[in-house]
Amino acid sequence: MLKPGDYIRDILRSEPGKSVTARGWIKTRRDSKGVHFLQLSDGSCFRDLQVVIPEGSVADDVLHEATTGASVEVSGELVPSPAAGQRVELQARALTVVGPADAKSYPLQKKGHSFEFLREIAHLRPRTNTFGAVFRVRSALSFAIHSFFHERGFVYVHTPIITASDCEGAGAMFGVTTLDLQNLPRLAEGKVDYARDFFGKPAYLTVSGQLEGEIFALALGNVYTFGPTFRAENSNTPRHLAEFWMIEPEMAFCDLADDMELAEDFLKYVIGYVLDQCGPDLEFFNERIDKSVLATLEHVVTSPFERITYTEAVRLLEQAGKNWEFPVHWGADLQSEHERYLTEEKFRRPVIVTDYPREIKAFYMRMNDDGKTVRAMDVLAPRIGEIIGGSQREERTDVLRERIRAQNLNEDAYWWYLELRKYGSVPHAGFGLGLERMLMYLTGMKNIRDVVPFARTPGSAEF
Ligand code: 4AD
Repeated sequence: MLKPGDYIRDILRSEPGKSVTARGWIKTRRDSKGVHFLQLSDGSCFRDLQVVIPEGSVADDVLHEATTGASVEVSGELVPSPAAGQRVELQARALTVVGPADAKSYPLQKKGHSFEFLREIAHLRPRTNTFGAVFRVRSALSFAIHSFFHERGFVYVHTPIITASDCEGAGAMFGVTTLDLQNLPRLAEGKVDYARDFFGKPAYLTVSGQLEGEIFALALGNVYTFGPTFRAENSNTPRHLAEFWMIEPEMAFCDLADDMELAEDFLKYVIGYVLDQCGPDLEFFNERIDKSVLATLEHVVTSPFERITYTEAVRLLEQAGKNWEFPVHWGADLQSEHERYLTEEKFRRPVIVTDYPREIKAFYMRMNDDGKTVRAMDVLAPRIGEIIGGSQREERTDVLRERIRAQNLNEDAYWWYLELRKYGSVPHAGFGLGLERMLMYLTGMKNIRDVVPFARTPGSAEF
């Protein structure tokens, strides 16, 4: 096992003269007269360790197997490196090939590969520079999220993955069943007899942990969930996954203003953390993926987010003098082109849009006194569009019941959710951040399939 000190990240920071052993995978190999060079990566940092093997220091048959893609263990001494950008390199004394690679068929050759191609070899793509960086940033971001909430005294709650209720009320859920699909048990009237299914009723993969998060907020105050969520919507876009990770804080005694403030502090904190901890990875994204990544992130950390109501947003879009593909009118949902205009042209920073028409938002959002809009907020980010969706929740039983009925949801399934309003209801609010959308923002990667280890999208669930 690699231990702190053995990582290539640590070796690269060591002084010349030190004896070290490095283990990793050969990214490239170059042979010149009397000397061989290996670029070795163990995934611990963006940079590779250059290994120099003088002719004759390693047996020919071992050297023969030390090809691109092979895993090796190399011991030797660190020496000052004449190459640009690295202080030290490893002068090899001993080399063992742990696992050879079939060099002829190894798909990751030195030339660049398209992201589309790399998606097809998701079992090997973490070994590339780009994907090593993506997944290190993903890990750092996850850690930053936990530490933000931990520092503020939030309790981390594990909400269920299998559920009987549709949180978003949109019906875009994957069913979970052990019934034999070729031979379904049926009731007299022809409907499927779910009483004979595993849970005794229809069950689904969760679209959100929010409703169960509310249970815990109304007992433990400030809580958050961080887990996988599933959406069976047939959205084949660069921004949608069928399986993605969501972070959902939920706060008791909290209104929409507090909710927005927390969302803004949260985004600034996690961006600040990643800027601080993932410098070389972000520099790579800035150089190779999107030249505006670093400037945008630094700008976001220091500038206040714009806050406007949906009604104002519609007015601005109508006045923009643009030929929108999706026409703008009060009552219609904002589309990607509208979100981009607001964040990239009009305000040039993240924008929080609040108070949407009730018809286009979920049943649980608190109704405003105008009877037409709800206390919703979406945080829109330049390049990405909606990155956070949240709201103050409806805490009044009668209004909530009416909303459940109006949206044709099965009231019985929400009995416990309604009951929370009966016993010690308080104003409460929360939001959800899509981890992968955040990662797209941090890295500049254009397709959400390239920031998740294994993408689940319509028609695709390989690996
Ligand atoms: O706006 P959404 O649907 O909100 C909820 O699920 C609420 N229950 C959250 C809450 O208030 N606790 O989703 C929240 C975020 C979106 O802003 C987006 O970042 C991400 O989840 N998201 C997706 N990410 C990837 N693929 C999809 N199909 C996504 N759908 C939503």
